[in-house]
Order: sequence, then structure tokens, then C-alpha cells
Amino acid sequence: MKFLVTGGAGFIGSAIAKKLFDRGDSVLIIDNLSTGYIENIPENVDFIEGDFSKDDIILQLDNQKFDGIFHIGGQSSGEISFENPEYDLNTNTLSTIKLLQYAVKTGCKKIVYASSMSVYGEHFGKECFSEDDLVSPKSFYAVGKLASERYMDIFSKQFGINYVALRYFNVYGPGQNLQNLKQGMVSIYLKQFIDDKFDEVTIKGSVDRFRDLIYIDDIVDITINSMDNPNFNNQVINIGTGKKTTVANIINLIKQYTNIDKKIILTDGTPGDQFGIYANNTKLTSLYPYPLVNFAGIGGGVRDDDKMGLYKNIKRQTMKILFALSKMALEIISYVSTSLGVRLRYYVYRHLYKKIDGFFYIGCGCTITGYKYISLGKNVSISRNSFLYSV
Ligand SMILES: NC(=O)c1ccc[n+]([C@@H]2O[C@H](COP(=O)([O-])OP(=O)(O)OC[C@H]3O[C@@H](n4cnc5c(N)ncnc54)[C@H](O)[C@@H]3O)[C@@H](O)[C@H]2O)c1
Repeated sequence: MKFLVTGGAGFIGSAIAKKLFDRGDSVLIIDNLSTGYIENIPENVDFIEGDFSKDDIILQLDNQKFDGIFHIGGQSSGEISFENPEYDLNTNTLSTIKLLQYAVKTGCKKIVYASSMSVYGEHFGKECFSEDDLVSPKSFYAVGKLASERYMDIFSKQFGINYVALRYFNVYGPGQNLQNLKQGMVSIYLKQFIDDKFDEVTIKGSVDRFRDLIYIDDIVDITINSMDNPNFNNQVINIGTGKKTTVANIINLIKQYTNIDKKIILTDGTPGDQFGIYANNTKLTSLYPYPLVNFAGIGGGVRDDDKMGLYKNIKRQTMKILFALSKMALEIISYVSTSLGVRLRYYVYRHLYKKIDGFFYIGCGCTITGYKYISLGKNVSISRNSFLYSV
């Protein structure tokens, strides 16, 4: 199969492109590298650099016919949508119209779109939202996402294109951009904790705010499944775990696992930010009956010394197993050292690992609901998609 993936240099788009390529599909990426990185683009995947809301870039597609379009790229910050609403509109909505027109012209039959839970806005006293609930966007970003959903719906009725609007809740995990301090709750706090340039950690809004955190591997599987499986067609679907995690929970987990304590500064919230929201995911679970990873910490390796400062997937399985085994050895050392009253453990993680290969590994709780859970001892485990270090 042949797919167009927009935003394939970004956090979510690159993971989707890689998975498609690995299973043998042909993939073409469009990305303007505004928040994405060329290094994220999987090898041997075709790439057009440029803005997908511009005609000259769409022209470069040369009327190729795709089996499906994953429209994942876009600017993903509510804050930026207030700073520059026109840019947000072009990137998140005009681009959808251009791609829908391209699909009609070339006979492409399906588009999957990265929408957002932000379309719900806020309703007094309500925390859990289902697809049937009233939408009430609070930011220009949310307006643009909702408009894209509506354009797809009308294109579908008018021209017979199938669409899926996936309302992602808060996505986290390896590959998330630690440099973008305007998007990504987990990554924004994590960056401030682990980067020595930050003496304190600034939190915009209350620590009682909460989100539904969904792991990147689940997002990738669900998004690809929604393209493959016709039962998803022409629907808006919440993509969340159905569980809420507060900002305070996230901060405590980061403190605990990094063993770094910094002063917390609370400032005014971001305009348009929702206080708390989590998904009613009944529709998702009826279409995608596989277990979802529960948020329990920060999974994956943290590469904090490369120029991008991404925390990103450790690609090779063998590498993972080697790491897991070496961590078991470190645990043994740490038990011995604890009995000697010396806390070598975090020293080894934070200093030795960093020096060896630039991976600063941050531990993660063991509440993994993935189906291939392999325990490698008290503290190390491998989930179905990445290995997590549990405490
Ligand atoms: N990450 C989340 O928690 C989350 C939640 C809800 C919705 N989403 C949506 O998912 C999508 C992907 O988010 P992400 O977290 O991977 O963000 P990201 O910033 O890592 O990736 C977005 C990619 O799109 C590219 N891009 C942006 N504007 C472009 C343009 N005009 N032309 C070409 N390329 C462009 C960027 O360079 C980047 O590579 C976004 O549409 C976002 O709104 C993300």
C-alpha cells in the first residue's frame, strides 16, 4: 500500500511513518521541519520538504495516487494559535482542505486526521467527554481542528471520501520533542527537570489540572488500525485511556524517577487551556479491543545530549535487551551499595549511562497492561513496544 504521511518529521507522524515502512508500505512524507526534525524521518522514506498548505508543495506530489492519507502534521499548541491565529488556520485547517481536494482529484479514498480533545473546551463540572458531547472550543487551535473535522465530513458526503477524525488526548513517550516548551505536558516538565539550564520548574496553571495521557505506541497502532479497518470510517473517535492524571502526579513521578528536586513556580495558566479532561473511550474500545498502556511514569530512553534534546525510542530490540540486562546488573550493585549506605544507583544512571552512550534513562512505573509483558527481574521489564524500567 502507498501512503502519504504529513508531519512525518514530528513526534507522532514519524512513529506512524516508521511503522508503515517497517510493515512494507510505501510512504511519502511532507513536512516543513517547523517543529519536526529531519533525523526523525525514517531512512528510505520519500520526503518533500515544505508547507502542505501551499499549492506549490501539493503540486510536487505530482498527482500520485495514494491508498490513504495520514494528515498528522500541524502546529499543535493552543498557545501559538493565540500568538498567530492565521498561521494556525493555514497549518491546521487550510492544509486539510488542500489534501481533501487532492484526494478527490487523484481518487484517494481515505484520510485519517489528527484531531484533538481540545475541541470539547470546558463545561462546568464535567470532566469526562464522549464524542456525543457538545463541542465548545476555547482556543483558535481547537477551532481549526474542529473545522477540519467538519470539512472532512462534508467532503465525505459530497465526494465519497472516507475519513477518520481521531481526537487525540495527551500523547507522551519516546520521540516527544523536549525543545518545544509550548506543547506536551509531560515533555515540558521533564525538560525543565533534567536540563541544568532551568533552575526551577515553571507550571502554567494549577497542579490540580489533569489530563488523559496516552502512550505513543498505542497512538501509532490505533491510527494505523483506523486506516486499515473500515469500521472506523466516517467517525470522530476519542483516543484516550479513560483515566486521569493530575499535573501534581506527573511532577511527583518525574521527581521520584530522576531524583531531581527543583523549586516549582506556579504562574497564570495558558489562554484557552482546559482545566481537566479525560476521555470516555467506549467507542474506541469497541473498535480497537486491545489493552492500552496506563500512565505510570516516563517510558523509554531520554537522549538529552543530542542537539535536538529529544527523548526518543531506543530503536533496536537487541539494544533494549542489553540495556535491560545491564540495568539488572546495576540494580544488584545498587542493593549492595545501599547496604553500605551509599546511593550509587542514581549516580550510575545519571552519570555513567550518560557518558557511555548519551542515553539518560529515566525509570518508569511497572503498571503496564500491554499483552507481552516480560518481567526481567524486580526492576526491569519489557512491554510490547518499548522496555520500561520499573521501581
Ligand atoms: N502530541 C499531542 O499530545 C497531541 C494531542 C492532540 C492532537 N495532536 C495533533 O497531532 C499532530 C501531531 O502532533 P505532534 O505531537 O507529533 O507534533 P509535532 O510538532 O512533533 O509534529 C508536527 C509536525 O508537523 C510539521 N508541520 C507543522 N506545520 C506544517 C506545515 N504547515 N507544513 C508541513 N509540515 C508542518 C512539523 O514540522 C512537525 O514535524 C498535530 O496535528 C497535533 O495537533 C497532538
